[in-house]
Amino acid sequence: MWDDLKQSTARVKDRRMLDLFEDDTRADTFSAQTGDLRFDYSKTQIDGAIRDQLLALAEAAGVAGKRDAMFSGAAINDTEGRSVLHTALRNLDGDQVIVDGQDVMPEVLGTLARMEAYANAVRGGDITDVVNIGIGGSDLGPAMAVAALSPYHSGPRCHFVSNVDGAHIADTLQALDAKRTLVIVASKTFTTIETMTNARTARAWMADHGGDPTMHFAALSSNLEKTAAFGIPAERVFGFEDWVGGRYSMWGPIGLALMIAIGPDAFRAFLRGGQAMDQHFRTAQGAENMPLMLALVGIWHAQVQGHATRAVLPYDQRLGLLPSYLQQLEMESNGKSVTMNGGAADVPTGPVVWGAPGTNGQHAFYQLIHQGTRVIPCEFMVAANGHEPDLAHHHTLLLANCLAQSEALMRGRSLEEARAKVSAKFDGAELERQAAHRVFPGNRPSTTLIYPKLDPFTLGQIIALYEHRVFVEGVIFDINSFDQWGVELGKELATALQPILEGDATAGDKDGSTQALVDYISRHRDG
Ligand code: F6P
Repeated sequence: MWDDLKQSTARVKDRRMLDLFEDDTRADTFSAQTGDLRFDYSKTQIDGAIRDQLLALAEAAGVAGKRDAMFSGAAINDTEGRSVLHTALRNLDGDQVIVDGQDVMPEVLGTLARMEAYANAVRGGDITDVVNIGIGGSDLGPAMAVAALSPYHSGPRCHFVSNVDGAHIADTLQALDAKRTLVIVASKTFTTIETMTNARTARAWMADHGGDPTMHFAALSSNLEKTAAFGIPAERVFGFEDWVGGRYSMWGPIGLALMIAIGPDAFRAFLRGGQAMDQHFRTAQGAENMPLMLALVGIWHAQVQGHATRAVLPYDQRLGLLPSYLQQLEMESNGKSVTMNGGAADVPTGPVVWGAPGTNGQHAFYQLIHQGTRVIPCEFMVAANGHEPDLAHHHTLLLANCLAQSEALMRGRSLEEARAKVSAKFDGAELERQAAHRVFPGNRPSTTLIYPKLDPFTLGQIIALYEHRVFVEGVIFDINSFDQWGVELGKELATALQPILEGDATAGDKDGSTQALVDYISRHRDG
């Protein structure tokens, strides 16, 4: 299968992507649509034959069966012996989901109702600021969504503290009134050193500034023993099960800050968007299936064509945190090199994901995307409408730029066109030299995800779309997308280094570089 695809790469290597549009149905044929969300991958080299090969790859990997196993609660995260059921958190109609012989939905919906009651109480009370303390999946999801949905905010201001760098919590708390601040400690395990250090600092700050940590702390966790030991009363603890992975957790209690910001109804609309994408993923056939095609287009570019990175380029300032969110979702999930049976992966797995909102990125790194030696497949996303009717002309410009970039990547600029641009100013050898700098190779692939407006429902659709893309990729790579052993070693070594840096242990067994850095720190550290 991979060989067939490699051969197709050779077949289309010199083809002009633009020429593919001689088929005037191409834009529709190579787009997938669900509701008003449209995913256009026509500005790629994928043709009907390649798409069939990609779909065959998915079929051979057993994507559909494994998808059904995930939704049904099978323990597909088999290095941790867990089901993978973040989809149950948005299963608002409460259809049964059985784990270990028990329907989990009554508890899921019960917790949702408790969150809603609490969010309403906070929104109706005298809290002016909410500080969510968490990291990774306990931070990026709600932080990204709170920023994305700011036009829907109707509650207290939300702040997010993640980094153990004291600067983060110090800068956040310094402007807040401890008596009117709610601190949410978000940690699935309730052991993460950064989060627990920040939580203790926030608790001391609140007590020192006349606040009441017993009343103004809430916890979101699956470790109820630890939340109790920290002193957070059970009525303000919102639990979830270990079948919700950290980077997939914003649909449940980890989404509390978002729910407080936008209100329970809008939060439910966000869940409904995710649920709609689940339904689509489970039922849409072949090329009509958007998550499947998003994954396969990514595989065509990364695993088949060998492009090691991809850029996510939301033309939406409020999606500024989406690239970081997707970095965790995609790179923590699929940055693996061992297959399910413990062997070595036989294809390069998850690509490097990076990006920034347009148009800002255009004035920073797009130079490399257009004229650099590496091909960076670009994933544009944009809404047809903004939220600022008085500034509709801004939005027109934003749209024009988004469309222009994907067109420019595909079209490029030939040497003749470049010559024509500068022929009035230069001639002879200097004309050739100047023109060469103005050539754009073109034929650079991109996709565009487009939607009417970034509302809670649409955001839910988009996040679930990316989750399922990661799932499909993981199945095709034959890896476990739901563990994250690669983060453990650094954590262990940091724990061992802490007493060394505090002078309570020696760096004797450390390598020369680490020893020298420890020495440098001890010479330069104040106090
Ligand atoms: O970095 C590893 C990780 O376990 C992530 O997977 C997770 O999202 C993050 O740490 C935070 O974990 P927790 O919610 O348990 O504090």
